[in-house]
Amino acid sequence: MIKNDLFLRALKGETVDRPPVWMMRQAGRYLPEFMELKEKYDFFTRCQTPELASEITIQPIRRFGMDAAILFSDILVIPQAMDIEVQMKPNFGPYLPDPIRSAEDLDRVIVPSIEESLGYVLDAISMTKEKLEDEIPLIGFAGSPWTILCYCVEGQGSKSFDKARGFCFTQPEAAHQLLQKITDTTIAYLKAKVKAGVNAVQVFDSWGGMLSPVDYQEFSFQYIQQIVDALKDDAPVIVFGKGCWFALKEMAQSGASALGVDWTCSAQNARYLTGGNITLQGNFDPARLLSPPETIKKMVTQMIREFGKDKYVVNLGHGILPHIPVENARAFIDAVKKYTE
Ligand code: CP3
Repeated sequence: MIKNDLFLRALKGETVDRPPVWMMRQAGRYLPEFMELKEKYDFFTRCQTPELASEITIQPIRRFGMDAAILFSDILVIPQAMDIEVQMKPNFGPYLPDPIRSAEDLDRVIVPSIEESLGYVLDAISMTKEKLEDEIPLIGFAGSPWTILCYCVEGQGSKSFDKARGFCFTQPEAAHQLLQKITDTTIAYLKAKVKAGVNAVQVFDSWGGMLSPVDYQEFSFQYIQQIVDALKDDAPVIVFGKGCWFALKEMAQSGASALGVDWTCSAQNARYLTGGNITLQGNFDPARLLSPPETIKKMVTQMIREFGKDKYVVNLGHGILPHIPVENARAFIDAVKKYTE
């Protein structure tokens, strides 16, 4: 059904001529056409208007021809739907004026109806699918429950999310209640996204690396496992944990179709930890896109050799940075498309 199904085949572990490629945060501030829309519409208007969200989703595809599109949206639409106010402040990032800090605060957190509160995401998916005309697959995503808790408790971005960790360690019961509410909402949300047409889903555990390996199992991974269990028969699931190489072994047994790896873990170590049988995705240092295009091309070819062309999805190790030259992003994509053994 999908004309270029390289990405879906790689997720199944099938043999391919070259690995597929996309970039985390590929719709973003490094693109002039994105900046044009950003000047006209604030962040959540872009997310909530299907016409805009679908256009922004397709911008990088038009320019570079990646093998998969990822719906333009944000992980923080989930707390918003759960009745936690989320603002996106220019030059600051996410801001949640009433963070969750106690068991009482939890009472105002709802598990919403997805159709009622996030119907605009489902509409954006239908519109994007129409525009893509089945050329390439569309990825839907959500934050991991732990990563969402980080913002709900901290109230803003942070280098170490001390308040979020403190909440888990001083009020574990409340923390688990919040994590379960987020998990239930996320499962319903991702299932609705698959129904609306996305071909795969990715769970972003951007702040999983803040936890010790033992705490990671308790406060993050067990909830990701619930999501994988609930979704894996509906669509392939990719689990990306930033700084979570220590959990790759458990992740490899989770039923996920692929695991994201950041650039601090070598291909060899990632293959070793995951038993060599699961599809891996990553792991180019996003700042390496500042190197000259010729260097980028050589490094990408080398990276594919190290991971191997099969059971592999080429990506960055985290989201693309805002100040990356467009030509350097192109060099990254082109190097993969021109790859031959
Ligand atoms: O990958 C894609 O192209 C899809 C779009 C996407 C966005 N956010 C758009 C966005 C995705 C997958 C996300 C996920 C997301 N959002 C994560 C997990 C992935 C990661 O990078 O770790 C996180 C932690 C967030 C929360 C968030 N949203 C932050 C911290 C910020 C501020 C970032 C900054 O540097 O200002 C956002 C805003 C945001 N989300 C932008 C984009 C393109 C930039 C702001 C804007 O466009 O106005």
